[in-house]
Amino acid sequence: MKTYIFTYKTINKAANIIKKGGIIAFPTETVYGLGCNTFNLNAIKKVYKVKGRPADNPLIVHIADKKWLFDLADIDKDKINIVNKLISKFWPGPLTLVLKKKKNIKDISGLNTIAIRMPKNKIALKFIKVCKCPISAPSANISGRPSSTSFNHVLDDFDGKIDGIIKTKKLCDIGVESTVIDLTSKNPTILRFGGIDIDDIKKIIPNIVVVKNVSHKPKSPGMKYNHYQPNAKVILFTTKNKNKIFEYKKKLEDKLNKVVVIDTNKIKNISKKLFDMYRQCDKKNIDFILITEYCGKYLSDAINDRIKKSATKII
Ligand code: TXA
Ligand code: MG
Repeated sequence: MKTYIFTYKTINKAANIIKKGGIIAFPTETVYGLGCNTFNLNAIKKVYKVKGRPADNPLIVHIADKKWLFDLADIDKDKINIVNKLISKFWPGPLTLVLKKKKNIKDISGLNTIAIRMPKNKIALKFIKVCKCPISAPSANISGRPSSTSFNHVLDDFDGKIDGIIKTKKLCDIGVESTVIDLTSKNPTILRFGGIDIDDIKKIIPNIVVVKNVSHKPKSPGMKYNHYQPNAKVILFTTKNKNKIFEYKKKLEDKLNKVVVIDTNKIKNISKKLFDMYRQCDKKNIDFILITEYCGKYLSDAINDRIKKSATKII
């Protein structure tokens, strides 16, 4: 299959492919998404297949107008206040809300909930608008790989496998995925740290619950699978053991391994660059990435979560 390249100017052509049941990768402010029409179950099945995604892990539905939310989700009276507060503060933006799904909306995960977000990226919003339908989209990476934060990342994973990619020259602004908040449980719960800083959410929901560990039956299905892993083995050094990195590096290099050290605290905008750095290591056939825990404040939960999940070892 030929994968067509579109730009902001030719976005209508990309939308026509969505209308015909195709798959288009598009940039958002977090990471690239692998989009299809939410109301076309066959298209959704194709997305799962091409990504290699387990069937029980549902997709986020992306909308271009806050009003669309009410066509997709049933919001209980006691939740409407909090929903309104969250969407007026954070939409458009990197916040995903899990709500009760309207009965007429079908998906293949079998859950009675739906995850919805309105992205902020200009191309994403225009794309969804011209599609005239909500767009279901997981991150545009082969399951388990680092998310795609540039056009080239998507090309590397999906050239010849999807109908098209909307091209931009830059890396996605934030570089980690959206923050996911579940509003269907008794207390609002963070299911995934992401592009909205936890402190900003606490200003609106001071008692927000954080799901720390992957339980036997995770609330967010995505939490139980391998994630964000480059081909290189990632070894995470906690701050306490950071001074052991260079000794460790030497030992690996003595055995002829190619090793890269990433000190996350020395890189400006690490959230934006992390997945790109992982993918660059793959291009150079690096065997090991020795990476530090991130000690900055902004988005540190999200950054450390991604590093931890990508790591094969924590020291
Ligand atoms: O920033 C993002 O969120 C990106 C861009 C493309 O929007 N998308 C993204 O999608 O990260 P994905 O599929 O890689 O991750 C979606 C996460 C998964 O952990 C999934 O389990 C969770 O959201 N999720 C989706 N629907 C859910 C639901 N109904 N209940 C609980 N968790 C849900
Ligand atoms: Mg993903």
